[in-house]
Amino acid sequence: KSLKNLNSFGIDCKAKHYVSISSVSELKEILANKEYPNRFILGGGSNMLLTQDIDALVIHLNLKGTTVISEDEDTIQLEAMAGENWHEFVTSCIDKGYGGLENLSLIPGNVGTAPIQNIGAYGVELKDSFVRCTAVSIEDQLELSFSKAECNFGYRNSIFKNEAKGKYIITSVVFNLTKQNHAYKTSYGAIQQELSEKNIENPSIKDISEAVISIRQSKLPDPKKLGNSGSFFKNPVVNNEVFNKFRIQNPEAPFYEVSPTEFKIPAGWLIEQAGFKGKQFGEAGVHKNQALVLVNYGNATGSEIWELALLIQKKVKEKFGIYIEPEVNVI
Ligand code: EPU
Repeated sequence: KSLKNLNSFGIDCKAKHYVSISSVSELKEILANKEYPNRFILGGGSNMLLTQDIDALVIHLNLKGTTVISEDEDTIQLEAMAGENWHEFVTSCIDKGYGGLENLSLIPGNVGTAPIQNIGAYGVELKDSFVRCTAVSIEDQLELSFSKAECNFGYRNSIFKNEAKGKYIITSVVFNLTKQNHAYKTSYGAIQQELSEKNIENPSIKDISEAVISIRQSKLPDPKKLGNSGSFFKNPVVNNEVFNKFRIQNPEAPFYEVSPTEFKIPAGWLIEQAGFKGKQFGEAGVHKNQALVLVNYGNATGSEIWELALLIQKKVKEKFGIYIEPEVNVI
């Protein structure tokens, strides 16, 4: 089966075997079946670059549904199944007046993959409203719950990218959202600008969501029209020594202080300065409005995009002495 429509880069790789599952019991059954020992778990397909056919059973997680776990006057705990589309889930929360996820509007992918990389945008991360998630162990099909502390969330990072990598399949996520007294996060410059252009002084969660959607639409290509996986690289975090040297040579560069000894430098800026923004290399390219996003102009192979990524990584290293690490999973 071709996976072209199941990965946001739109890479035409094939799965040797494929199954779409729509219940947790079905998932356990498939995992227990030793006929196909090699499995590949596919969620939203929005954070991976396929560079070869998959010689395994591809299990597409199509678990759907949202349930209320508990609520009081101020907050609600909602459990969403892993196969729910992230943005549709966010939109349904905003429509019901539940706050907490509005800054994370329009992020591609599914609910179940969001905790793996602790998705984040415009001053908010998934961990801010995360309560716990349920996962099935691939080895013995037992269901277990991961608390927020156990997930060990960091910048684009969690236990699911480290010790727990490849061992569990997240089947649902529980969020704690606000029904009133929302914690509006509007300090991000681009959000403030959007709101002031519309003369909105006291924004609602819907206003914030709309501002985020319009910022994202202006910078990030729609994967349905132009294959991409959002930010291809992580923003590098460097120590004092590296940062001071960088700052002297590049006084105009944007940066964020993560801690007194750690500084985050936008990879998009580094890539733009290295001359790649808007450049096309065969069917692969660097997006014209955001250099952190690599795009597929239609028929790029995963290897073509990966070669471009390696070239960018090399040139950035040569020019700035800084290593940028991919954010997407390269397969
Ligand atoms: N910049 C450039 N040139 C570019 C891109 C960015 O000079 O081509 C500069 C901008 O001018 C700005 C700075 O870099 O000063 C930061 O840019 P931006 O606000 O667009 O954010 P980012 O750091 O590039 C991160 C996330 C995005 C998220 C935005 C907003 C990572 C790897 N990426 O990008 O997440 O939407 O912040 O919060 O942390 C994603 O992960 O797929 C993603 C899109």
